[in-house]
Amino acid sequence: MFATSRLFTSVAAKRAFSTSASNLSKVAVLGAAGGIGQPLSLLLKENKHVTHLSLYDIVNTPGVAADIGHINTNSKVTGHTPENDGLKAALENAHVVVIPAGVPRKPGMTRDDLFNTNASIVRDLATAAAKYCPDAHFLIISNPVNSTVPIFAETLKKAGVFNPKRLYGVTTLDVVRASRFVAEVKNLDPKDVKVTVVGGHSGVTIVPLLSQTGIEFTKEELDSLTHRIQFGGDEVVQAKNGTGSATLSMAYAGARMANSVLEATVGGKKGVVEPSFVQSDVFAKEGVEYFSTNIELGPEGVEKINGLGEISDYEKELIAKAVPELKKNIVKGNAFVQ
Ligand code: NAD
Ligand code: LMR
Repeated sequence: MFATSRLFTSVAAKRAFSTSASNLSKVAVLGAAGGIGQPLSLLLKENKHVTHLSLYDIVNTPGVAADIGHINTNSKVTGHTPENDGLKAALENAHVVVIPAGVPRKPGMTRDDLFNTNASIVRDLATAAAKYCPDAHFLIISNPVNSTVPIFAETLKKAGVFNPKRLYGVTTLDVVRASRFVAEVKNLDPKDVKVTVVGGHSGVTIVPLLSQTGIEFTKEELDSLTHRIQFGGDEVVQAKNGTGSATLSMAYAGARMANSVLEATVGGKKGVVEPSFVQSDVFAKEGVEYFSTNIELGPEGVEKINGLGEISDYEKELIAKAVPELKKNIVKGNAFVQ
């Protein structure tokens, strides 16, 4: 009897907890039927913090949601398209919104070449987000990240709901790649190789701080690793030969970033550190409003923005090339909304 009532209490308590937590951990994926969206949604279905996975795309989400929804983890899955106010339903009560909506590169294109198509997609999604879930944490994957983050921010500002602690340009793939590439060259296990990457997310704006790894590199290794980390995305674009860019490694990286935000904001975990392209003071004097460095996440989102730390002369030169390019990309994003 005692055992039964204790069991009842504990089931009731769990139910009460899951009801109160459910609004907190609804995660929406916008662009969920795409190359990144599908595997990212699959990985998020496995995340213990996610209680409701809400999948939005202009097409095909009912099928993706029905499929992922059969996986026997605890979260509910819903699929939404623009019909019947689907974007509103997808976003309302979302705690985290991950956005891989937009077109990918083909060989010969830069990420900036995607601006004309993706800028308006991101602006329109930001307008809806400002209306339906202004307090959510927004993770922007759509390229060019150096410009889409400013576009998202300016749109939220126009609506009077911008919170710089909750807008993240996703640059996780750069550190995932850097760890893998360095480990390959040095014959190490990537789990033991942490590379800080700062700046932005395109070509020369991606600046790996290899001097901070504690690993010795020859000048040739530095040159080739730096180039490979900066242009890793191009390797995938070329190998996919016109059918898209990185999707699976990006889904892995996006799920890692989303998990870190969830761990810090609903999981109560302290000391969660990820790189992210956020509103930052690091190069504000040079007119660079957003910059990626390691950030510490807390219950409200971005809690502390780390500086560059000690960097080598080699890295100072890389930064000097990154800053003007970044500034141009940010100004272009801001101007699009104004
Ligand atoms: P994809 O074409 O396979 O998928 C994009 C999806 O977005 C499609 O399903 C499409 O229907 C959807 N979409 C288009 N307009 C939409 C809208 N208004 N609302 C909702 N959904 C919309 O492309 P992908 O390979 O998944 O790449 C998506 C984006 O992510 C690209 O811009 C790509 O460059 C970028 N990307 C960024 C990183 C990064 O590190 N940040 C890495 C890889 C790719
Ligand atoms: C990447 O780094 O893989 C993405 O930004 C996609 C791309 O266009 O390279």
